[in-house]
Amino acid sequence: MHHKTIIEPFRIKSVEPIRLSSQEERVQYLKEAHYNLFQLTSDRVIIDLLTDSGTSAMSAEQWGGIMRGDESYAGASSWLRMEAEIKDLTGFPYVLPTHQGRAAERILYSYLGGEGKTFIANTHFDTTRANIEYSGATAIDIPIAEAYEPEQFHPFKGNMDTDKLRALIEEKGGANIGAVILTVTNNSGGGQPVSMANTREVAAICKEAGILFLLDACRIAENAYFIHWREEGFVDHAYRSIAQEMFRLADGAIMSAKKDAMVNMGGFLAVKDADIADACKNMLIITEGYTTYGGLSGRDMEAIAIGLQEVFFPDYLKYRIRSTTYVGDKLREKGVPIMWPVGGHAVYVDAKAFYPNIPVEEFPGQALACDLYLAGGIRSCEIGSVMFGKYTDDGQLIPAATELVRLAIPRRVYTQSHMDYMIETFDGLMDNRDKRTGYTITYEPPFLRHFTANFEPKG
Ligand code: F0G
Repeated sequence: MHHKTIIEPFRIKSVEPIRLSSQEERVQYLKEAHYNLFQLTSDRVIIDLLTDSGTSAMSAEQWGGIMRGDESYAGASSWLRMEAEIKDLTGFPYVLPTHQGRAAERILYSYLGGEGKTFIANTHFDTTRANIEYSGATAIDIPIAEAYEPEQFHPFKGNMDTDKLRALIEEKGGANIGAVILTVTNNSGGGQPVSMANTREVAAICKEAGILFLLDACRIAENAYFIHWREEGFVDHAYRSIAQEMFRLADGAIMSAKKDAMVNMGGFLAVKDADIADACKNMLIITEGYTTYGGLSGRDMEAIAIGLQEVFFPDYLKYRIRSTTYVGDKLREKGVPIMWPVGGHAVYVDAKAFYPNIPVEEFPGQALACDLYLAGGIRSCEIGSVMFGKYTDDGQLIPAATELVRLAIPRRVYTQSHMDYMIETFDGLMDNRDKRTGYTITYEPPFLRHFTANFEPKG
């Protein structure tokens, strides 16, 4: 018999209780958090969809590995295991362990960057952009045009616009380009995949112009799943071999292990070039740790080596992508406007379309994130004008391009009934949507205001 239901391919061995709260309690909690979900303590959240980063449940194998972790300062066996795994996966001869993705970014981009350099990506993730700009360099995003059309289907909406890439290389001069980066999947663009054909084309353009080509590979297993099923010629290729093929087109990669390596902390940098590796190793030793542990404990490295294997297990990846798609499909059936098609690690709700009466100056994404919390104890993340809005000199808001709310799904953590509960929560928000009002900011810091800003409901 063919089953329609795709089950979680694991049994639960250890559980973490969730404290259930009432709507009355949450009204008070939200007020105490100044209507900013980052200021809620986690025991006041029922389902936490703030991020898929560092929130994975580890397997019994990984917990076993934690116990086996070798904590020797130099040459630990856990390091050798992690290094061998990454070398086999990426094909890069030099691997540098770091405590998380942005530490690898800081090391690499402070070396490659600096005044006058330009970096080009399908979309730079915030920490990538911040590290590049901090070095004095410029970061430019050139996703394909479809990436900005929430409703338009494209199988590989994370692709880079290669005509724009050629034009930018012509304009800036190859020698002034620090690197070209493909973020797979494209997180800031909705968790959308990049095709192998696009990767090949970008690689060829970079090779011809003598420009370094890098992957931001933190969700490369999820990306490989989409290539397997959506791109012609890959249905017979194993997920891991698709990822290997993609790595082999690049000159180097950065990976936050907090995503597809399914650990709670960790990352690495891997490159082909010995000179880049040497320069980065010096910076690694000064700021992270010795080359055989970087910012990591031996046990963390053991768990990364195992997680990098498990993430390519076909039953896991099928369950992973199906459960994200399930949430997106159900929300769409209800008429909730979402980024389409559904990406790998999260569903992005278009809050501007959901609350058409809330002007961007009153932050529709913030209103939706607060309402999801009040109605269901769900913590999501505004990705809109709270996070990316800027001001003119006379204090007028320059809104972000889109007002989204991200529902990021932690790996192996929640069951289908958690997701059904979350989906149901939207029912209560659908009525009287056109009467909803927004928020004003009562306090904000000069940088990264979404973490610490305070809000008050309008009216
Ligand atoms: N690159 C991408 C594409 C990311 O999504 C992240 C983190 C990083 C780099 C930085 O890695 O957090 O280990 O330093 N994304 C998290 C998120 C924070 O919620 O999407 P890190």
